[in-house]
Amino acid sequence: MSAIRFRLNGVETAVDADPDRPLLDVLRGELGLTGPHFGCGAGECGACHVLLGDRAVTSCDTPLWSAADQDITTVEGLGNAERPHPLQRAFIAEQAMQCGYCVPGIMISAAALLRQNPTPTDADVRAALDRNLCRCGSHNRMIRAVLRAAGEMAAS
Ligand code: FES
Repeated sequence: MSAIRFRLNGVETAVDADPDRPLLDVLRGELGLTGPHFGCGAGECGACHVLLGDRAVTSCDTPLWSAADQDITTVEGLGNAERPHPLQRAFIAEQAMQCGYCVPGIMISAAALLRQNPTPTDADVRAALDRNLCRCGSHNRMIRAVLRAAGEMAAS
């Protein structure tokens, strides 16, 4: 079995694993990234979203082989405590988290939206986050946070 190579959060990465394994398994297991979460395991909740190129995908039902030669971005790749992404700052400013379990996946959906549409409307944000479930009911605050981040990015 030959290694599958891709760029993970900007870093060239090679993984020697069964190419049919879910990408989420490999990210959390071999690669130690705990941002993408396991929720439903069936492509329905969005907790496991990562960027494949510029597109948010459910990594729980995306096979490892489809990451070959691609750019994969997890929430860890958006920013960190020292240099947070505008979305991360905005989620804190709007206090848009309760339990937080869904938030990494939601930030990835939002990041995909802002890459494709830097000036989204409220309806655009609602549509982009439609595939992400949040059982705490924080969606309104999250929508405000995404719009806040879009405004900040447009102004910079
Ligand atoms: Fe992947 Fe729910 S865990 S969509």
